[in-house]
Amino acid sequence: MSTSVRTRVAIVGAGPAGLILSQLLADAGIESVVIDQRSRTEIESTIRAGILEQGTVDLLTAIDPHTRVHTVGHRHDGIELRFGGEGHRIDFRDLVDRSVWLYPQHEVLTDLLALRLAAGQDLRFGVTATRVEDVDTDRPRVIATDADGAPLTIDADFVVGADGSRSVVRPAVTGTSQGGWFREYPFAWLGILCEAPPSADELIYSNSDNGFALISQRSPDVQRMYLQCDPVADPDALTEEEIWADLQSRVPGTTLHQGRIFQRDVLRFRSFVAHELRRGRAALVGDAAHTVPPTGAKGMNLAIADVVILAAALRALLAEDDARLIDGYAQTASRRIWKAQHFSWWMTSMLHVAPDAGEFDRRRQIGELRSVVDSRAGRTYLAEAYTGWPAGV
Ligand code: PHB
Repeated sequence: MSTSVRTRVAIVGAGPAGLILSQLLADAGIESVVIDQRSRTEIESTIRAGILEQGTVDLLTAIDPHTRVHTVGHRHDGIELRFGGEGHRIDFRDLVDRSVWLYPQHEVLTDLLALRLAAGQDLRFGVTATRVEDVDTDRPRVIATDADGAPLTIDADFVVGADGSRSVVRPAVTGTSQGGWFREYPFAWLGILCEAPPSADELIYSNSDNGFALISQRSPDVQRMYLQCDPVADPDALTEEEIWADLQSRVPGTTLHQGRIFQRDVLRFRSFVAHELRRGRAALVGDAAHTVPPTGAKGMNLAIADVVILAAALRALLAEDDARLIDGYAQTASRRIWKAQHFSWWMTSMLHVAPDAGEFDRRRQIGELRSVVDSRAGRTYLAEAYTGWPAGV
């Protein structure tokens, strides 16, 4: 039995970008259908990054004044850069009067899913989009398979690809599944979750001769940490003792609180921006449009920044028949995307030790780190970018 539904905006992907877009559209009286191939449990339990920019928190608070960001999440007023065995605090409050919040993405998703479902959003799990058709007409559509394996067609006025780095919507926009500017890095992160109290009050980004390490957090008794590794490393190759010894060697000056490691994963590093972000009646947001390496903590924040721009453009197009903003979407979104690309690349290259780095490269890198921490202008640049540029800049 094949089914067909009609809506104004078909949103492929129920991640932060897709869900926030459905909320902003609903606020403007524009109905949408959101589909995701994953189950609700899968969406709510996938471990992703944890840092929210000030602007992201402001938006989540506007959407839901009782958001748990303020009760379960933690405000961080700075981070530490560590190199040459010494720590250097980047004081966000003092430098730019902004903060970030540590509040993991799966918690954001749990909140948004509950909110959208309570508001009656048409949100379908286990639905796999296969392709998008007719984006050059006023009636684009998503061809999908529903949770029972039956064909489903969603006819819409506009289709949005919020469906991550393996986007099914992307080929309809760019003409190919890959089409974009792309860079790979010669390292990855081994991420762990462990049962231990926090080892520091704030995040530590550490450059050491043994490679990079990031000491992050999750809750009073679960911590998230990462260590630079080979992209083809087997996450299970090291014993727990070896992981702790390696991590500890990379953060001299801090005694890590150790505990049982109950999850490990290897995160590959890529930078990517699709050649086109919009074609006719289809647009891309978030990881479907771009990928950043995680060192700048930009991924989810950049996705949400795209959505704010796209929601305004769709309001103008669909409620006022004004196409000017949607015609400018790619150009407007690209400004921030490329700033975030640069910042993520910069943090990554400044803090990691490339496998072929020689003595000159190491000394130059320490010089670069010193030129950031020794200067208020340098620290301010980092603080501005990390806490997030204001909307539209
Ligand atoms: C995390 O806590 O997962 C995290 C924090 C900062 C980053 C990346 C990941 O830059």
